[in-house]
Amino acid sequence: MSSTLEIQSPPRIAQSWLARYQAVRAQSTALCAPLLPEDTVVQPMIDVSPPKWHLAHTTWFWETFLLQEYAPGYQVFHPEYAFLFNSYYNSLGSRVNRADRGTLSRPALADVLAYRSHVDAALAALLMEPHELPAAFFELLELGLQHEQQHQELLATDIKYILSTSPLAPAYAAPVAALNEESRMKNEELPDDNNSSFLIPHSSLSAASWLPVPGGICTIGFQEEGFCFDNELAAHDVLVAPFELQNRLVTNADYLAFMEAGGYRDFRYWMGEGWDLLQAEGWAAPLYWVQKEGGWHRFTHHSLLAVDPAAPVTHVSFYEADAYANWAARACPPRPSGKPPPAISTPPPRAAPGSKATPWTRSPCPPQPTPAPAISCWATAGSGPTRPTTPTPATPAPPGRWASTTASLW
Ligand SMILES: [Fe+2]
Repeated sequence: MSSTLEIQSPPRIAQSWLARYQAVRAQSTALCAPLLPEDTVVQPMIDVSPPKWHLAHTTWFWETFLLQEYAPGYQVFHPEYAFLFNSYYNSLGSRVNRADRGTLSRPALADVLAYRSHVDAALAALLMEPHELPAAFFELLELGLQHEQQHQELLATDIKYILSTSPLAPAYAAPVAALNEESRMKNEELPDDNNSSFLIPHSSLSAASWLPVPGGICTIGFQEEGFCFDNELAAHDVLVAPFELQNRLVTNADYLAFMEAGGYRDFRYWMGEGWDLLQAEGWAAPLYWVQKEGGWHRFTHHSLLAVDPAAPVTHVSFYEADAYANWAARACPPRPSGKPPPAISTPPPRAAPGSKATPWTRSPCPPQPTPAPAISCWATAGSGPTRPTTPTPATPAPPGRWASTTASLW
């Protein structure tokens, strides 16, 4: 976390902070704007929080950590909201159980929006008052913005899951054809879902090849100026063995081949824990995939769309990605003997152009070799409604071949 901020808040700096604050806050409500009030209450699984709860919880953060601490005479909007909308902050008392957030029919969405307006007005007034605010206030302000943006990511994933559980398969966003036409008219980049593949047609299935990546000592961890979360610190060196990386993400066609070869019926490809989950939950395809009219479709923010064979496969759990990799390794042609392929000079793309898919890796997430965090009590946002994503702690990546499947959150 940056600590270079001065302790004063002259008008220009305050205006800049206020503009950022208002933009981030507006994004949260914009994400929920296409929803019906009823949509914002639903919690179909424990890992999903109702959108109304997200809107209120992020507001509770500002009220609790900034306004009550730094705004003289601030009056809380409602005395019970601290119980309703605390998430995991044990130091701040009891709260509604995570699994019970969907039972909160009250307060109404309109009340939550009024809560947001109340807090927004108070924070704007605090920022614009001609008085000094300490550096700690601005550090909390930055943290609050990052926190709300984390919840926006959760909103996107949770909204998708909520709507996917409706037999009506409601569309969150405009139909694809309308989006395409609108964007073409504006000559702008198309909006995104799991990836842009269904909006920007993939020209063809490109053949996979393998890119050699030389090993060595690599520095990982946050090394820039500005904000980062404490688990991104400290930058440190790790030893990476040489490996080869597939030149593109695993596609739906690749994954369909795994499915059609019986990948979901053969325990040999699966970690024991993944196999148990597969059987317990009846996995037979990636999350959001359904069979309809003789073919595979997937639920998107634009309702059901046919699976595009050339698009990266998304919404597979770590266990599915691992099982796919184990299956694909059997069909992976050995590297031709003779001259080794030339080493690449630049890192391979992490995702397809225009895609927001996030590749799975086997990298564990162990404690970083870092000093004590500056602020130790902040909980990061919870996981989205993907299938289980926490793999067994892994060993450092061994040499070999690695093809990326994705763990997209959208
Ligand atoms: Fe939170």
